Amino acid sequence: MSGTGNEQARKTAEGLTYSSGFGNEHSSEAVTGALPVGRNSPQLAPLGLYAEQLSGSAFTEPRRHNRRSWLYRIRPSAAHPPFVRAEQGAIRSAPFTDCVPDPNRLRWNPLPEPAGPVDFLSGLWTLGGNGDATQRTGMAVHLYYTNSSMTDRVFSDADGELLIVPERGGLLIRTELGLLRAEPGHVALIPRGVRFRVELLDADARGYVCENYGRPFELPDLGPIGANGLANPRDFLAPEAAYEDVEGPFEVVSKFCGNLWKATYDHSPLDVVAWHGNHVPYVYDLRRFNVIGSISYDHPDPSIFTVLTSPSDTPGLANVDFVVFAPRWLVGEDTFRPPYFHRNVMTEYMGLIEGAYDAKAEGFVPGGGSLHNMMSAHGPDRETFDRASAAELKPQKIDDGLAFMFETRWPLTLTEQARDAGHLQRGYDDVWQGLQRHFRP
Ligand SMILES: [Fe+2]
Repeated sequence: MSGTGNEQARKTAEGLTYSSGFGNEHSSEAVTGALPVGRNSPQLAPLGLYAEQLSGSAFTEPRRHNRRSWLYRIRPSAAHPPFVRAEQGAIRSAPFTDCVPDPNRLRWNPLPEPAGPVDFLSGLWTLGGNGDATQRTGMAVHLYYTNSSMTDRVFSDADGELLIVPERGGLLIRTELGLLRAEPGHVALIPRGVRFRVELLDADARGYVCENYGRPFELPDLGPIGANGLANPRDFLAPEAAYEDVEGPFEVVSKFCGNLWKATYDHSPLDVVAWHGNHVPYVYDLRRFNVIGSISYDHPDPSIFTVLTSPSDTPGLANVDFVVFAPRWLVGEDTFRPPYFHRNVMTEYMGLIEGAYDAKAEGFVPGGGSLHNMMSAHGPDRETFDRASAAELKPQKIDDGLAFMFETRWPLTLTEQARDAGHLQRGYDDVWQGLQRHFRP
Protein backbone atom coordinates (compact mmCIF):
# COMPACT_ATOMS: atom_id res chain seq x y z
CA MET A 1 0.00 0.00 0.00
CA SER A 2 1.37 3.38 -0.94
CA GLY A 3 1.87 6.18 1.51
CA THR A 4 -1.12 7.91 -0.08
CA GLY A 5 -3.25 4.88 0.71
CA ASN A 6 -2.09 4.92 4.32
CA GLU A 7 -2.93 8.61 4.55
CA GLN A 8 -6.41 8.03 3.16
CA ALA A 9 -6.99 5.17 5.59
CA ARG A 10 -5.76 7.30 8.49
CA LYS A 11 -8.00 10.17 7.52
CA THR A 12 -10.95 7.77 7.42
CA ALA A 13 -9.94 6.22 10.75
CA GLU A 14 -9.60 9.55 12.50
CA GLY A 15 -13.11 10.57 11.45
CA LEU A 16 -14.85 7.49 12.83
CA THR A 17 -17.65 7.66 15.36
CA TYR A 18 -18.92 4.81 17.49
CA SER A 19 -21.67 3.81 19.85
CA SER A 20 -20.53 2.74 23.30
CA GLY A 21 -21.32 -0.14 25.61
CA PHE A 22 -20.51 -3.82 26.03
CA GLY A 23 -22.99 -6.51 24.96
CA ASN A 24 -25.58 -3.91 24.05
CA GLU A 25 -28.37 -4.21 21.54
CA HIS A 26 -26.89 -1.63 19.21
CA SER A 27 -28.49 -0.32 16.07
CA SER A 28 -27.11 1.80 13.25
CA GLU A 29 -28.07 2.90 9.76
CA ALA A 30 -25.84 4.53 7.19
CA VAL A 31 -28.86 5.77 5.24
CA THR A 32 -31.85 7.19 7.06
CA GLY A 33 -34.77 4.80 6.91
CA ALA A 34 -32.71 1.71 6.07
CA LEU A 35 -33.50 0.03 9.38
CA PRO A 36 -36.97 -1.53 9.60
CA VAL A 37 -39.03 -0.37 12.55
CA GLY A 38 -41.03 -2.76 14.70
CA ARG A 39 -39.98 -5.96 12.90
CA ASN A 40 -36.84 -7.65 11.64
CA SER A 41 -38.00 -9.13 8.37
CA PRO A 42 -40.72 -7.12 6.67
CA GLN A 43 -42.18 -8.42 3.43
CA LEU A 44 -39.99 -5.91 1.66
CA ALA A 45 -37.07 -4.47 3.61
CA PRO A 46 -36.63 -0.68 3.34
CA LEU A 47 -34.79 0.84 0.38
CA GLY A 48 -34.80 -2.44 -1.52
CA LEU A 49 -32.34 -4.07 0.91
CA TYR A 50 -32.17 -7.75 1.83
CA ALA A 51 -32.64 -8.77 5.48
CA GLU A 52 -30.21 -11.38 6.83
CA GLN A 53 -29.71 -12.66 10.36
CA LEU A 54 -26.19 -13.52 11.55
CA SER A 55 -26.42 -15.87 14.56
CA GLY A 56 -23.46 -16.05 16.94
CA SER A 57 -25.25 -18.37 19.36
CA ALA A 58 -27.87 -21.08 19.00
CA PHE A 59 -31.35 -19.59 18.75
CA THR A 60 -32.30 -21.09 22.08
CA GLU A 61 -29.35 -20.17 24.29
CA PRO A 62 -30.23 -18.24 27.45
CA ARG A 63 -30.89 -14.59 26.85
CA ARG A 64 -27.67 -13.48 28.57
CA HIS A 65 -25.63 -15.60 26.13
CA ASN A 66 -27.81 -15.09 23.08
CA ARG A 67 -26.10 -13.25 20.23
CA ARG A 68 -27.31 -12.29 16.82
CA SER A 69 -27.43 -9.32 14.53
CA TRP A 70 -29.82 -8.43 11.74
CA LEU A 71 -28.08 -7.07 8.66
CA TYR A 72 -29.79 -5.06 5.92
CA ARG A 73 -27.64 -5.37 2.84
CA ILE A 74 -27.56 -4.66 -0.86
CA ARG A 75 -27.30 -8.35 -1.72
CA PRO A 76 -27.61 -11.38 0.54
CA SER A 77 -24.44 -13.28 1.53
CA ALA A 78 -26.00 -16.40 0.02
CA ALA A 79 -25.39 -15.16 -3.52
CA HIS A 80 -22.02 -16.78 -4.16
CA PRO A 81 -20.45 -19.59 -6.18
CA PRO A 82 -18.92 -22.66 -4.46
CA PHE A 83 -16.10 -22.21 -1.98
CA VAL A 84 -12.83 -23.88 -2.92
CA ARG A 85 -9.73 -24.48 -0.81
CA ALA A 86 -7.47 -21.45 -0.50
CA GLU A 87 -3.78 -20.96 0.21
CA GLN A 88 -3.35 -21.81 3.88
CA GLY A 89 -0.29 -19.63 4.49
CA ALA A 90 0.99 -19.96 8.05
CA ILE A 91 -2.44 -20.34 9.70
CA ARG A 92 -2.93 -23.53 11.70
CA SER A 93 -5.81 -24.73 13.82
CA ALA A 94 -6.79 -26.93 16.73
CA PRO A 95 -6.50 -29.78 17.38
CA PHE A 96 -2.74 -29.20 17.22
CA THR A 97 -1.14 -32.59 16.74
CA ASP A 98 2.11 -31.95 14.88
CA CYS A 99 4.19 -31.44 18.03
CA VAL A 100 4.43 -33.14 21.39
CA PRO A 101 3.21 -30.77 24.14
CA ASP A 102 6.34 -29.23 25.64
CA PRO A 103 6.67 -28.56 29.38
CA ASN A 104 9.56 -26.15 28.85
CA ARG A 105 9.37 -22.42 29.30
CA LEU A 106 9.71 -20.84 25.89
CA ARG A 107 10.22 -17.34 24.62
CA TRP A 108 10.27 -15.83 21.15
CA ASN A 109 11.60 -12.65 19.61
CA PRO A 110 9.23 -10.77 17.29
CA LEU A 111 8.31 -12.30 13.95
CA PRO A 112 10.85 -11.51 11.23
CA GLU A 113 9.94 -8.75 8.80
CA PRO A 114 8.19 -10.09 5.69
CA ALA A 115 10.32 -10.20 2.55
CA GLY A 116 7.62 -8.97 0.15
CA PRO A 117 4.13 -7.50 0.28
CA VAL A 118 2.03 -9.30 2.90
CA ASP A 119 -1.48 -8.33 3.91
CA PHE A 120 -3.07 -9.03 7.30
CA LEU A 121 -4.48 -12.40 6.31
CA SER A 122 -1.29 -13.60 4.64
CA GLY A 123 0.66 -12.23 7.60
CA LEU A 124 -1.09 -14.39 10.20
CA TRP A 125 1.27 -16.94 11.73
CA THR A 126 0.04 -19.49 14.23
CA LEU A 127 2.12 -20.19 17.33
CA GLY A 128 -0.08 -22.90 18.82
CA GLY A 129 -3.23 -23.54 20.75
CA ASN A 130 -5.48 -26.05 22.40
CA GLY A 131 -8.93 -27.58 22.22
CA ASP A 132 -10.71 -28.30 18.99
CA ALA A 133 -12.08 -25.71 16.60
CA THR A 134 -14.84 -28.04 15.43
CA GLN A 135 -15.97 -28.57 19.03
CA ARG A 136 -15.97 -24.82 19.75
CA THR A 137 -13.57 -25.19 22.62
CA GLY A 138 -10.05 -23.97 23.25
CA MET A 139 -8.07 -21.23 21.58
CA ALA A 140 -5.16 -20.43 19.30
CA VAL A 141 -2.38 -17.86 19.53
CA HIS A 142 -1.48 -16.15 16.28
CA LEU A 143 0.91 -13.34 15.47
CA TYR A 144 0.86 -11.10 12.43
CA TYR A 145 3.34 -8.94 10.57
CA THR A 146 1.86 -7.11 7.60
CA ASN A 147 3.07 -4.37 5.29
CA SER A 148 0.17 -3.97 2.85
CA SER A 149 -3.56 -3.40 3.06
CA MET A 150 -6.14 -5.95 2.02
CA THR A 151 -7.78 -4.51 -1.09
CA ASP A 152 -10.10 -6.83 -2.97
CA ARG A 153 -10.62 -9.54 -0.42
CA VAL A 154 -12.21 -10.01 2.98
CA PHE A 155 -11.74 -12.61 5.69
CA SER A 156 -14.07 -14.24 8.18
CA ASP A 157 -13.56 -16.91 10.78
CA ALA A 158 -16.26 -19.52 11.30
CA ASP A 159 -14.08 -21.22 13.94
CA GLY A 160 -14.07 -18.45 16.51
CA GLU A 161 -13.87 -14.80 17.37
CA LEU A 162 -10.63 -12.91 16.84
CA LEU A 163 -9.19 -10.64 19.50
CA ILE A 164 -6.60 -8.51 17.70
CA VAL A 165 -3.88 -6.92 19.84
CA PRO A 166 -1.84 -4.43 17.77
CA GLU A 167 1.71 -3.93 18.97
CA ARG A 168 3.04 -1.80 16.14
CA GLY A 169 1.18 0.13 13.46
CA GLY A 170 -2.46 1.17 13.42
CA LEU A 171 -5.21 -0.76 11.66
CA LEU A 172 -8.38 0.37 9.93
CA ILE A 173 -10.67 -2.64 10.13
CA ARG A 174 -13.57 -2.50 7.69
CA THR A 175 -16.22 -4.96 8.87
CA GLU A 176 -19.69 -5.80 7.65
CA LEU A 177 -21.06 -3.74 10.54
CA GLY A 178 -18.77 -0.75 10.05
CA LEU A 179 -15.25 0.51 10.60
CA LEU A 180 -12.94 0.26 13.59
CA ARG A 181 -9.67 2.01 14.29
CA ALA A 182 -7.23 -0.13 16.27
CA GLU A 183 -3.93 1.41 17.29
CA PRO A 184 -1.22 -0.12 19.49
CA GLY A 185 -2.68 -0.13 23.00
CA HIS A 186 -6.16 -0.93 21.69
CA VAL A 187 -7.73 -4.33 21.19
CA ALA A 188 -10.27 -5.05 18.47
CA LEU A 189 -12.68 -7.95 18.47
CA ILE A 190 -14.16 -9.49 15.34
CA PRO A 191 -17.05 -11.82 16.21
CA ARG A 192 -17.32 -15.29 14.76
CA GLY A 193 -18.37 -15.19 11.12
CA VAL A 194 -18.19 -11.42 10.61
CA ARG A 195 -16.40 -10.49 7.38
CA PHE A 196 -13.71 -7.86 7.49
CA ARG A 197 -10.78 -6.32 5.67
CA VAL A 198 -7.71 -4.75 7.29
CA GLU A 199 -6.05 -1.62 5.95
CA LEU A 200 -2.85 -0.20 7.36
CA LEU A 201 -2.58 3.23 8.94
CA ASP A 202 1.23 3.09 8.92
CA ALA A 203 3.92 1.55 6.74
CA ASP A 204 3.60 -1.79 8.48
CA ALA A 205 1.85 -3.39 11.43
CA ARG A 206 2.36 -6.32 13.71
CA GLY A 207 0.71 -7.75 16.77
CA TYR A 208 -1.05 -10.70 18.32
CA VAL A 209 -4.37 -12.45 17.82
CA CYS A 210 -6.26 -14.66 20.24
CA GLU A 211 -8.61 -16.88 18.30
CA ASN A 212 -11.26 -17.94 20.77
CA TYR A 213 -13.07 -21.07 19.66
CA GLY A 214 -15.18 -21.13 22.83
CA ARG A 215 -17.89 -18.96 24.29
CA PRO A 216 -17.54 -15.33 23.27
CA PHE A 217 -15.55 -13.04 25.50
CA GLU A 218 -17.55 -11.26 28.15
CA LEU A 219 -16.71 -8.93 31.00
CA PRO A 220 -15.76 -10.73 34.20
CA ASP A 221 -18.05 -10.50 37.20
CA LEU A 222 -16.80 -7.95 39.72
CA GLY A 223 -17.92 -9.57 42.99
CA PRO A 224 -16.88 -7.48 45.99
CA ILE A 225 -15.17 -4.94 43.72
CA GLY A 226 -18.64 -3.56 43.16
CA ALA A 227 -20.49 -2.05 40.26
CA ASN A 228 -17.48 -0.38 38.60
CA GLY A 229 -13.89 -1.20 37.82
CA LEU A 230 -11.57 -3.23 35.61
CA ALA A 231 -12.80 -2.72 32.02
CA ASN A 232 -15.85 -0.49 32.19
CA PRO A 233 -18.61 -1.34 29.69
CA ARG A 234 -18.98 2.18 28.33
CA ASP A 235 -15.41 2.15 27.03
CA PHE A 236 -16.16 -0.57 24.48
CA LEU A 237 -16.94 1.00 21.13
CA ALA A 238 -19.05 -0.56 18.39
CA PRO A 239 -18.95 0.72 14.80
CA GLU A 240 -21.55 2.75 12.99
CA ALA A 241 -22.98 1.18 9.84
CA ALA A 242 -20.92 1.87 6.73
CA TYR A 243 -21.32 0.13 3.41
CA GLU A 244 -19.51 -0.32 0.13
CA ASP A 245 -21.63 -0.27 -3.03
CA VAL A 246 -18.96 -1.66 -5.32
CA GLU A 247 -19.36 -4.14 -8.19
CA GLY A 248 -16.49 -6.33 -9.27
CA PRO A 249 -14.70 -9.44 -8.07
CA PHE A 250 -14.15 -9.71 -4.32
CA GLU A 251 -12.57 -12.74 -2.76
CA VAL A 252 -14.18 -13.93 0.46
CA VAL A 253 -11.83 -16.11 2.47
CA SER A 254 -13.36 -18.14 5.27
CA LYS A 255 -11.60 -20.16 7.94
CA PHE A 256 -13.76 -23.23 8.39
CA CYS A 257 -12.76 -26.11 10.69
CA GLY A 258 -9.14 -25.07 10.42
CA ASN A 259 -8.88 -24.73 6.66
CA LEU A 260 -9.09 -21.62 4.51
CA TRP A 261 -11.70 -21.60 1.77
CA LYS A 262 -12.46 -18.92 -0.77
CA ALA A 263 -15.27 -17.84 -3.08
CA THR A 264 -15.39 -14.93 -5.49
CA TYR A 265 -18.34 -12.59 -5.10
CA ASP A 266 -19.26 -10.20 -7.90
CA HIS A 267 -19.66 -7.32 -5.45
CA SER A 268 -18.21 -6.09 -2.17
CA PRO A 269 -19.53 -8.24 0.67
CA LEU A 270 -19.20 -5.23 2.97
CA ASP A 271 -22.54 -3.95 1.68
CA VAL A 272 -24.53 -3.74 4.94
CA VAL A 273 -26.42 -0.43 4.97
CA ALA A 274 -28.04 -0.86 8.39
CA TRP A 275 -27.95 -3.35 11.23
CA HIS A 276 -29.07 -3.99 14.75
CA GLY A 277 -28.14 -6.60 17.31
CA ASN A 278 -25.51 -7.67 19.81
CA HIS A 279 -23.18 -9.82 17.66
CA VAL A 280 -20.97 -6.85 16.94
CA PRO A 281 -17.31 -5.97 16.53
CA TYR A 282 -15.78 -3.59 19.02
CA VAL A 283 -12.62 -1.79 19.96
CA TYR A 284 -11.31 -1.03 23.46
CA ASP A 285 -8.45 1.18 24.62
CA LEU A 286 -6.44 -0.75 27.21
CA ARG A 287 -5.33 2.53 28.79
CA ARG A 288 -8.88 2.92 30.02
CA PHE A 289 -8.56 -0.23 32.13
CA ASN A 290 -9.25 0.60 35.76
CA VAL A 291 -6.45 -1.25 37.53
CA ILE A 292 -7.35 -2.66 40.94
CA GLY A 293 -4.63 -3.75 43.34
CA SER A 294 -3.54 -4.11 46.94
CA ILE A 295 -3.27 -1.09 49.22
CA SER A 296 -1.97 -3.11 52.17
CA TYR A 297 0.33 -6.07 51.48
CA ASP A 298 0.96 -8.78 48.87
CA HIS A 299 -0.63 -8.33 45.50
CA PRO A 300 -3.71 -10.07 44.17
CA ASP A 301 -3.46 -12.91 41.71
CA PRO A 302 -3.26 -11.58 38.14
CA SER A 303 -6.90 -12.52 37.56
CA ILE A 304 -7.52 -9.07 39.02
CA PHE A 305 -6.23 -7.73 35.68
CA THR A 306 -8.78 -9.63 33.56
CA VAL A 307 -10.19 -7.49 30.76
CA LEU A 308 -12.29 -10.16 29.06
CA THR A 309 -13.10 -13.76 29.85
CA SER A 310 -14.41 -16.63 27.75
CA PRO A 311 -16.19 -18.87 30.26
CA SER A 312 -16.21 -22.64 30.09
CA ASP A 313 -18.98 -24.87 31.39
CA THR A 314 -17.19 -24.97 34.76
CA PRO A 315 -17.89 -21.86 36.84
CA GLY A 316 -14.74 -19.78 37.33
CA LEU A 317 -12.68 -21.81 34.88
CA ALA A 318 -12.03 -19.78 31.76
CA ASN A 319 -11.63 -21.25 28.31
CA VAL A 320 -9.35 -18.24 27.92
CA ASP A 321 -8.89 -14.96 29.76
CA PHE A 322 -7.43 -11.80 28.28
CA VAL A 323 -5.42 -10.06 30.99
CA VAL A 324 -3.56 -6.75 30.82
CA PHE A 325 -0.63 -5.52 32.91
CA ALA A 326 -1.22 -1.80 32.64
CA PRO A 327 0.50 1.14 34.33
CA ARG A 328 -0.23 1.06 38.07
CA TRP A 329 1.04 2.00 41.50
CA LEU A 330 2.72 -0.51 43.77
CA VAL A 331 2.39 0.37 47.44
CA GLY A 332 2.41 -2.99 49.26
CA GLU A 333 4.22 -2.96 52.59
CA ASP A 334 6.63 -5.80 53.40
CA THR A 335 5.83 -7.23 50.02
CA PHE A 336 7.78 -8.73 47.16
CA ARG A 337 6.21 -6.53 44.55
CA PRO A 338 6.94 -8.10 41.15
CA PRO A 339 4.91 -11.14 40.13
CA TYR A 340 5.68 -14.04 42.42
CA PHE A 341 7.21 -17.40 41.60
CA HIS A 342 4.45 -19.53 40.26
CA ARG A 343 3.31 -22.89 39.00
CA ASN A 344 -0.13 -22.86 37.47
CA VAL A 345 -2.64 -25.41 36.20
CA MET A 346 -3.60 -22.75 33.66
CA THR A 347 -1.35 -22.01 30.68
CA GLU A 348 0.02 -18.52 30.20
CA TYR A 349 1.03 -16.95 26.89
CA MET A 350 2.36 -13.43 27.40
CA GLY A 351 3.04 -10.65 24.94
CA LEU A 352 4.37 -7.13 25.26
CA ILE A 353 2.80 -4.13 23.55
CA GLU A 354 5.25 -1.51 24.74
CA GLY A 355 7.95 -0.81 27.30
CA ALA A 356 9.04 -3.47 29.75
CA TYR A 357 7.38 -5.97 32.07
CA ASP A 358 8.15 -5.80 35.77
CA ALA A 359 9.09 -9.46 36.18
CA LYS A 360 11.61 -9.57 33.34
CA ALA A 361 14.59 -7.26 33.24
CA GLU A 362 15.52 -8.16 29.68
CA GLY A 363 14.82 -10.47 26.76
CA PHE A 364 11.03 -10.03 26.81
CA VAL A 365 10.60 -7.45 24.08
CA PRO A 366 7.66 -5.75 22.39
CA GLY A 367 6.32 -8.02 19.67
CA GLY A 368 7.87 -11.07 21.31
CA GLY A 369 6.15 -13.54 23.56
CA SER A 370 6.62 -16.15 26.22
CA LEU A 371 4.84 -19.39 26.92
CA HIS A 372 4.62 -20.85 30.40
CA ASN A 373 2.72 -24.04 29.85
CA MET A 374 0.64 -25.85 32.46
CA MET A 375 2.58 -26.37 35.71
CA SER A 376 5.83 -24.93 34.40
CA ALA A 377 7.75 -23.04 37.08
CA HIS A 378 8.20 -19.35 36.29
CA GLY A 379 8.48 -15.98 37.91
CA PRO A 380 10.86 -13.07 38.19
CA ASP A 381 14.27 -13.46 36.65
CA ARG A 382 17.36 -13.36 38.84
CA GLU A 383 18.06 -9.70 38.28
CA THR A 384 14.46 -8.72 39.07
CA PHE A 385 14.43 -10.90 42.19
CA ASP A 386 17.64 -9.39 43.51
CA ARG A 387 16.50 -5.85 42.82
CA ALA A 388 13.00 -6.26 44.25
CA SER A 389 14.27 -8.05 47.36
CA ALA A 390 16.48 -5.09 48.22
CA ALA A 391 14.22 -2.28 47.03
CA GLU A 392 13.11 0.46 49.36
CA LEU A 393 9.33 -0.01 49.60
CA LYS A 394 8.15 3.48 48.88
CA PRO A 395 5.15 3.95 46.57
CA GLN A 396 6.28 3.15 43.07
CA LYS A 397 4.60 3.83 39.74
CA ILE A 398 5.00 1.25 37.02
CA ASP A 399 4.31 3.36 33.98
CA ASP A 400 6.60 2.22 31.20
CA GLY A 401 4.98 -0.97 30.03
CA LEU A 402 1.87 -2.56 28.62
CA ALA A 403 1.97 -6.36 28.72
CA PHE A 404 -0.85 -8.83 28.33
CA MET A 405 -1.61 -12.50 28.80
CA PHE A 406 -3.83 -15.06 27.13
CA GLU A 407 -4.45 -17.47 30.01
CA THR A 408 -6.14 -20.69 29.03
CA ARG A 409 -7.41 -23.75 30.85
CA TRP A 410 -5.57 -26.34 28.78
CA PRO A 411 -1.94 -26.85 27.88
CA LEU A 412 -0.92 -25.19 24.67
CA THR A 413 0.68 -27.24 21.91
CA LEU A 414 2.99 -25.54 19.46
CA THR A 415 2.89 -25.60 15.72
CA GLU A 416 5.98 -26.93 13.98
CA GLN A 417 6.76 -23.46 12.71
CA ALA A 418 6.80 -22.10 16.28
CA ARG A 419 8.90 -24.96 17.61
CA ASP A 420 11.44 -24.62 14.80
CA ALA A 421 11.32 -20.83 14.47
CA GLY A 422 14.59 -18.98 14.10
CA HIS A 423 13.19 -16.34 16.44
CA LEU A 424 12.65 -18.84 19.27
CA GLN A 425 15.13 -17.76 21.93
CA ARG A 426 17.70 -20.30 22.99
CA GLY A 427 18.61 -20.44 26.65
CA TYR A 428 15.48 -18.82 28.11
CA ASP A 429 16.01 -21.03 31.17
CA ASP A 430 19.17 -19.08 31.90
CA VAL A 431 17.20 -16.13 33.28
CA TRP A 432 16.47 -18.24 36.35
CA GLN A 433 20.05 -19.43 36.74
CA GLY A 434 22.13 -18.01 39.56
CA LEU A 435 19.25 -17.55 42.00
CA GLN A 436 21.39 -17.86 45.07
CA ARG A 437 20.77 -20.04 48.08
CA HIS A 438 19.93 -17.76 51.04
CA PHE A 439 18.71 -20.37 53.52
CA ARG A 440 20.17 -19.82 56.96
CA PRO A 441 18.73 -22.46 59.35
FE1 LIG B 1 2.06 -17.13 36.13
